[in-house]
Amino acid sequence: MARDTQALPVFRAEGLTRIYRTGAVEVRALRGVDLSLTEGEMVVLLGASGSGKSTLVNILGGLDLPTDGRVFFRERELTRASDRALTAFRRDHVGFVFQFYNLVPSLTARENVALVTEIARNPMTPEEALARVGLAARMDHFPAELSGGEQQRVAIARAIAKRPDVLLCDEPTGALDSKTGIQVLEALHEVNRDLGTATVLITHNAAIQRIAHRVVVLADGRVTRDEINTARVLPAEVSW
Ligand SMILES: Nc1ncnc2c1ncn2[C@@H]1O[C@H](COP(=O)(O)OP(=O)(O)O)[C@@H](O)[C@H]1O
Ligand SMILES: [Mg+2]
Repeated sequence: MARDTQALPVFRAEGLTRIYRTGAVEVRALRGVDLSLTEGEMVVLLGASGSGKSTLVNILGGLDLPTDGRVFFRERELTRASDRALTAFRRDHVGFVFQFYNLVPSLTARENVALVTEIARNPMTPEEALARVGLAARMDHFPAELSGGEQQRVAIARAIAKRPDVLLCDEPTGALDSKTGIQVLEALHEVNRDLGTATVLITHNAAIQRIAHRVVVLADGRVTRDEINTARVLPAEVSW
């Protein structure tokens, strides 16, 4: 499954540092990270807890700003954007998936996705988004009637329904067992394959790197590995 090496970068981050200051205590979460994400690419971002993975992805997604360094989304420099422009960037271009699904409990799966499709510029229908994650038969179920893996797939449907350029997933399988976790990885794999959505998948589970086009490892706020995966497998072949 070789990829087009001429594909364009979606994100380019240069020299990112992020220092959190709490009172007199300073934490250096990122210490000079350079990274790019290419069109259509599925990157697995690995690293121990505290290595800076969430910080990095929050900066790429415009949820946070670096202390130093620059981030470009295509030609636009996010690190020079106004708050208003960053909000528009997130709304129009980025889908987020987190470990906890944050579904509205009083709304069905379809209604949870519709919350997003009602305000997006060029959305797919909630029905299409839910079908893409294998939940066509579960659209009218409430979150409490769905398993953890199914709820996470509703969250993925909600994230992809606006047809984002990038999907940023922070430990999406972190609360799931291996069987339902693999179904979530299958949903992400199919979205990436069929819609070409560039995807960053954070995990601390090294087994998951096998599904990536590219593997990036962070340790103590630095990139210690950034390699193409030449032996990519389907999610069903991952065991953890
Ligand atoms: N809001 C915050 N305030 C202070 N320190 C933080 C904050 N967020 C993260 N950190 C610290 O930054 C480092 C990197 O955190 P994080 O990016 O969450 O790592 P990971 O996602 O790899 O577990 C950790 O030492 C963490 O404690
Ligand atoms: Mg994290």
